[in-house]
Formats: sequence, structure tokens, C-alpha cells
Amino acid sequence: MILLLGGEKGGSGKSCLAQNLAVWIQARGGDVLLLDADPQGTTADWAAERAEGNLPPIPVVQAHGNIRQTLLDLRNRYRQIVVDAGGADSEALRSAMTVATHMLIPFRPKRRDLKTLPNVENLARLALAVNPELTIRAVITQCPALPSQVQRILDAKDACKSFGIEALNAITTARNVYDDADENGCSVLESGADPRAIEEIEALATELWRDFRWA
Ligand SMILES: Nc1ncnc2c1ncn2[C@@H]1O[C@H](COP(=O)(O)OP(=O)(O)O)[C@@H](O)[C@H]1O
Ligand SMILES: [Mg+2]
Repeated sequence: MILLLGGEKGGSGKSCLAQNLAVWIQARGGDVLLLDADPQGTTADWAAERAEGNLPPIPVVQAHGNIRQTLLDLRNRYRQIVVDAGGADSEALRSAMTVATHMLIPFRPKRRDLKTLPNVENLARLALAVNPELTIRAVITQCPALPSQVQRILDAKDACKSFGIEALNAITTARNVYDDADENGCSVLESGADPRAIEEIEALATELWRDFRWA
């Protein structure tokens, strides 16, 4: 399984989800590698901090540019690879889409994020032409917790659907623990500071597990 966290917008939660999902997979006996394809190295830094602490380390490699061959080589050595792509439409993102089995695209329920949908749809069409096995899903992230804002989340899911990209039922809500946990190479699953964030990642991962059958 190669799960690619990608998209065109910075700050949508790609690195955050890559890290939390990698921890989730590892905690269930997975054999997971993180590939950080973002020149900013957010996830590589996170994994390095993690390796210094008491948490079970997660192997990480960094690669940029055309990462297709790197992924083909690595998939013989790890059962699950989680790729954190950078914030833009990059060569790394496009090349990873040719070999990934699954792609998750985070969108905040905001106009500026959703405005990238036409480009994302285009990217998806190109990738599916060479990699028809690729499953692409959106996930709405950093949602407002207020019940009065539920319609925004539903509208964001509808927007994704109208561009041919199905959104997961699971969402993430804007919670400080997502930001605080990643400081120490930790995940929200391990920090334990906010059970609601744990539930969100569990729900998201369980939905992925059901859809993606990566066991
Ligand atoms: N659900 C969330 N609630 C609050 N903060 C979040 C959430 N998801 C991510 N963040 C924070 O938002 C910032 C951007 O997230 P990040 O995962 O780095 O985005 P990307 O990798 O897509 O650029 C980080 O500081 C991260 O900790
Ligand atoms: Mg990032």
C-alpha cells in the first residue's frame, strides 16, 4: 500500500495526517515507512524528534523530484508507505500519483482550499490514465466545531464530489492538540490530551482501512 497525502494547498493538514496515520498503522502491527517529499522536511523533522524520544520510531526517507522509482524500490521493503507531498503541484506529487495505490487530499472547508478543486480534478484525471488502480479521496480538515457550521462541512464535501473526488465521512476538527502533539514527534493518538482528536483519527483511519484494505 502506498498512501499519498497530496494536494495543491499548504497548511491543509497533509503532514499532520501523514504522521498520525503512520502512527496508527504502526500501532496495529504495520510495517510502515514515511517518505517526506516536501523540501521543507516537516515530516522528516518530526520523525527525527520522535526517534530522540521514547516513542516507537518510524523510519523516514526524504526524496524529491521524480520519486516514482524510489517508491517502486521501497515498496519491496515496506508493507505500507505513507508519502507526505509538499504544498504545491510538484514533480514529486505527480510522479508519486503514478505509483500510489491511494491518495488522500485534505481540504479545509474554505474557499481558497476548494478553489484548487479544478486543478486537482485535472491532476487526478492525468494520474488515473496511467495508474487506474489509484483510489483518490478527499478529507475535510480543521473544521469549525460549532454545530452552526455543519453546513460548511457538508458544502465542502459536495464541492469535492462535484469535481469527481469523493470525500470521506470522517473529518478533522480544528483542535489545538493536532498542533501541540506534533511538536515532540508525537501523534494525537499518543499525546492523549484530547480524546475527541483520537476519535477523529480512529474514525478516519477505520474508514480508510475499510475502503483501502491495506492489512
Ligand atoms: N485538525 C487540525 N486542527 C488544528 N490544527 C491543525 C489541524 N491539522 C493540522 N493542523 C496544524 O496546521 C498546521 C498545518 O498543518 P500541516 O499538516 O503542516 O499542513 P500541510 O502539510 O498540508 O502544509 C500545522 O501547524 C498543524 O499542526
Ligand atoms: Mg506539510
